[in-house]
Amino acid sequence: MASLTDISTLDVLVNEVLSSPTKYLTVLAPMIPGVGHIINLLISKVDFYPYLLKDKKHPIVTIPLADNKIYVLTSPRLIQAAMRSKSLSSEPFLLEHSQDLLGMTDDEFALVQKSVPDLIRAVHGSMVSEHLHAMNATVLKYIADEINAIGSFSLPSLDVNNTWIWIRNLTTMATTKAMFGHRNPFHFNPLLVDDLCPRSVTARARLQAALQKYYAARLDDGPDVSQIMRARAELLPLIEESLTPASASEGSNGMRQATVNVSVLEDRAPFLVSCLRETNRLYNHAVIVRRVIADTQLSSSSDCGTAYLLKKGADVHTPAGVVHRLPEVWGPAADEFQADRFLGGATGTEADDRTRKAAIMPFGGGLHLCPGRDFAFAESLGLMVALVVGYDVRGLGDGPGLVPVPRAVTVGLGHKIAKPVGVGVGLRVSITRRKGWEDVKWRYISL
Ligand code: HEM
Repeated sequence: MASLTDISTLDVLVNEVLSSPTKYLTVLAPMIPGVGHIINLLISKVDFYPYLLKDKKHPIVTIPLADNKIYVLTSPRLIQAAMRSKSLSSEPFLLEHSQDLLGMTDDEFALVQKSVPDLIRAVHGSMVSEHLHAMNATVLKYIADEINAIGSFSLPSLDVNNTWIWIRNLTTMATTKAMFGHRNPFHFNPLLVDDLCPRSVTARARLQAALQKYYAARLDDGPDVSQIMRARAELLPLIEESLTPASASEGSNGMRQATVNVSVLEDRAPFLVSCLRETNRLYNHAVIVRRVIADTQLSSSSDCGTAYLLKKGADVHTPAGVVHRLPEVWGPAADEFQADRFLGGATGTEADDRTRKAAIMPFGGGLHLCPGRDFAFAESLGLMVALVVGYDVRGLGDGPGLVPVPRAVTVGLGHKIAKPVGVGVGLRVSITRRKGWEDVKWRYISL
């Protein structure tokens, strides 16, 4: 049986590069021909690429995977060029599994396939300006209501058994309300949150059944539903045409009020923002995948104009877990959490800064840059600002009340963010009001 340490490879040079100066693509062939990489991928999941590419300095390598070939990019500039390329497409991956997963007939699938570009355009237009502010306001109102209750007569302190699960559940419930409105299935059945990280077919079926009921009743057309869902709902009739119906400041009560404007936190709370970016750098393991839909020459100015030929039909992987920890970009302490790493002026030259910007990709980049990034940032920062300023969060484990940083565990290739070891078991905390902040009611705005 192969193990993690068996990810040794034979480095082979093949002539797959065009233009001048001629360079060669390195092929990392597995020691066990044909299946070696597949076995190691199954065993080590997102750690596969960090092990495979350790101490290797190629901007791009090829790895043979059964009958297919994968180009793995680690040069920040080449990655940016790849993200902007129209002939590297994410659509095949969106579609490949969705027909089986959603039980669509071939006709239904063909219709959905045609609508994907419209859907993606609609989503990107739904997460900006007033639509984004409306979602921010709803998501943070939910969070404010929850944390404002802490310190009240009936809840003097909140004892949390598993901090990771508490934050996951709080932010998921808040997010589903901001997206789907107050009559969303998660509101009626909070246990569905567990099904969002489905470990079983049954969990997925439960989630689908709940959402089907929601869509069938056209609750996605309600007044407090986000624009992202409404834009989808407007496109739905086009998709549904051939579907069968069945598939179808001073606060009140003498309390003081603290108002957080989440739109200015980047400027006003740069240290907290730097902490969040650093957390994303270390714990985001997104492997961004593209299919080469036409022979493509990929080049970047930083590599003396060398153009690499990517062959139609192959896949391209860009592993954030590798790029976010490149010592040549992040320095010798690339593996360490440095809270001030993203504070302005903390690094050397402008060129260094440009390279770092190109090398940070928790939300992807280019044509498919995550449209939910500002929303996710506002939600996380909004909660963190209130917890840091207005509450004492004390660890309930051994030791002097500190909250231990859990070890992150390997996640599957399709997951973007690492999880704490043991799903956070043992991360027990007690949350109380900080002295001087007992009578403060939190409120958020997004302008
Ligand atoms: C911390 C939270 C989040 C992370 C780390 C994250 C990460 C990403 C990444 C890496 C991509 C790029 C995928 C690719 O290029 O193939 C992406 C795309 C996308 N994200 Fe997010 N995301 C987050 C939150 C959200 C939220 C809250 C929403 C919606 C409300 C959202 C909606 C989307 C959509 C629709 C796309 C596809 C865009 C396209 O293909 O053009 N994301 N996300």
